[in-house]
Amino acid sequence: MRVLLVGSGGREHALGWKLASSPRVDDLISLPGNPGLSRLGAVVDGISVTDVGAIAAMARVQSVDLVVVGPEAPLAAGVVDAMATLGIPVFGPTRAAARLESSKTFAKEVMTRAGVATAASESFHDPDTARDYLSRRDGPFVVKADGLAAGKGVLVTENRDEATRWSERWLAEGPVVVEDFLDGPEVSVFAVCTDAGAVPLAPARDYKRLHDGDEGPNTGGMGSYSPVADLPAGLTDDAMREVVEPILRQMDEEGSPFRGFLYVGLVLTSEGSKVLEFNVRLGDPETQAVLPRITSDLVDLLEGTAPEWSTDAAVNVVLAAEGYPESPVKGASIRGLDTVPDDVLVFHAGTRSEGKKLLVDGGRVLNVVGLGSSVDEARAKTYEAIQALNFPGMQFRTDIAAQS
Ligand code: GLY
Repeated sequence: MRVLLVGSGGREHALGWKLASSPRVDDLISLPGNPGLSRLGAVVDGISVTDVGAIAAMARVQSVDLVVVGPEAPLAAGVVDAMATLGIPVFGPTRAAARLESSKTFAKEVMTRAGVATAASESFHDPDTARDYLSRRDGPFVVKADGLAAGKGVLVTENRDEATRWSERWLAEGPVVVEDFLDGPEVSVFAVCTDAGAVPLAPARDYKRLHDGDEGPNTGGMGSYSPVADLPAGLTDDAMREVVEPILRQMDEEGSPFRGFLYVGLVLTSEGSKVLEFNVRLGDPETQAVLPRITSDLVDLLEGTAPEWSTDAAVNVVLAAEGYPESPVKGASIRGLDTVPDDVLVFHAGTRSEGKKLLVDGGRVLNVVGLGSSVDEARAKTYEAIQALNFPGMQFRTDIAAQS
């Protein structure tokens, strides 16, 4: 079969790597892809991932048999609806179902109707009402842009004035949600939702702050690992029964059936686990630590077959550009990739080829993934491989998976 993969980051390289290993996949086409994906098949440049009409037309011209969508923006723009109109099989939610990520207010309302545990929240459309609400609350304050904000729309602060300014800044672009702070460790749980039902993947943990010890600014994610040892027994089964299945039933009842990857961000509070957020796609950088642990076929999984797992653990450390996350510096030359051992995977995220050179071309540049019989062994392999990799200004955390 010929598969079209939409997206260009580390998550998409991991998806493409797994798809290309399937005996069912003859051709992989990535749009727009990256230098890592270009080694696995053709890459198509010049079409925006949100230009759903152009992507659908291209899929038809290329006689694509299956479309797999990595990031949220094309899903929220309706790429699945466009494929369905043309009768092209596609894995992902419709635009209406993607509102579980593209509108935090919608997600909260569906959770309430489905009886799913989450932080209490209020949505606001004007600054005066938001300011008045914040003035009557105690911190920590959690203020979120309602819509997609590429990971930049969330503020957690003890400072009321800062929270108020944040609400005003994002209200200029749409509604904001103010919610109660959930205290506890976070974990990402994933479900593969098909007509055959929902199948869980192994949970993973990611690291959102730039520096060791969870210090510094928020990022798109500086690393991840799987499996996660310090979880309550039965957490995945509980999340399927108490979150995923009620949400799928609710979405069915509301006429927006959800198909695709459902990412459940959970906080393990003293009152039990509660939903922090939904995403309608796999996590980045969690995917890079989860997919290498699956020994069975990814296309079978996308059709609803439960995955088989290796006993290996995986630890993914992100190498980020100088200036990330505020203003990543592009153009530095990346060295040492040819020294990475075969049992360490490197997924490209923000790179560009120029002749024989590989250059930094984004904030998160590479994902280095070591596998081992334990998290500690996988972690040691990852950090050993990183010693041979470098580019000017390279930043990475040294404590990914250190506590497990
Ligand atoms: N790792 C967080 C996310 O993918 O949204």
